[in-house]
Amino acid sequence: MKKTALVTGANKGIGFEIARSLGKHGYDILVGARDEARGQAAVEKLTAEDISATFVKIDLNDLGSLHAAAKMVNSLDILVNNAGIPDSVKPGHAALDMAKHTFDYTTEDLRTTMETNFLGTHELTKNLLPSLADNAKIVNITVPISPTGFWHPLAYITSKAALNVMTLTYAYEFEKMGSRRQIFGIMPGAVATDLNGMEAGAHGGFVKSAEAAGQMSTDIILSDQNQNGQIIQYDGKIVTDYEIQLRG
Ligand SMILES: NC(=O)c1ccc[n+]([C@@H]2O[C@H](COP(=O)([O-])OP(=O)(O)OC[C@H]3O[C@@H](n4cnc5c(N)ncnc54)[C@H](OP(=O)(O)O)[C@@H]3O)[C@@H](O)[C@H]2O)c1
Repeated sequence: MKKTALVTGANKGIGFEIARSLGKHGYDILVGARDEARGQAAVEKLTAEDISATFVKIDLNDLGSLHAAAKMVNSLDILVNNAGIPDSVKPGHAALDMAKHTFDYTTEDLRTTMETNFLGTHELTKNLLPSLADNAKIVNITVPISPTGFWHPLAYITSKAALNVMTLTYAYEFEKMGSRRQIFGIMPGAVATDLNGMEAGAHGGFVKSAEAAGQMSTDIILSDQNQNGQIIQYDGKIVTDYEIQLRG
């Protein structure tokens, strides 16, 4: 029987490339997107590559769309929680503002980013639990949360820290229940997308293309290893040296 994968934010960027890569591995793809026209355009592109793809409206800021999406999914083998925003920046100005000072973040910046990246993702995941296959995998696309000189965008890393706690907590519950389900995080590193406005190959080649990030993520997702509770970096390294305080 064919397996099904739902990818949120699958209309572009890393999400589209994960959808494409999983589709090439034979998965039926549910293309989660908040905008129907953009979602259907992605479905057409995937279908043109002989990938089975269906649009599902998923707007992480609209609980009704999340509940409706969960109802229309019968059986799910892979859920990729990919959709995300860098900050509460306005549409058309989506690039992550690395120069924004910590003290300049507003409550609205933090609320919007947390609502999208964490609260919406949690609501969708929780509502999909009854539809998950016994050995289903839930994948949270995430970032490092420790502030460094270059890297400390407060709203973004705060929301991803919450997402990482969700990864660890769901993993704990799966393990305690003796479930074969897994949840893990993937950190793709710097990827050239609208989210950061960077170009592939920038920073001495450190910035990878969305296609490379999609393939790398798919290799991790399809691994035979038990990855429950892990946060895995783009090079396959399991990250254990940050958020130590969260792990106790
Ligand atoms: N790019 C990087 O360097 C990098 C590194 C590490 C992790 N990530 C993570 O990778 C994921 C994908 O980001 P990306 O770089 O591919 O950025 P992107 O090209 O901007 O794609 C973001 C996707 O999320 C969707 N989205 C945004 N808000 C949404 C909402 N409220 N409901 C549903 N969908 C929503 C967007 O839909 P619209 O097209 O409708 O806006 C788009 O499909 C994010 O979680 C990001 O944090 C990115």
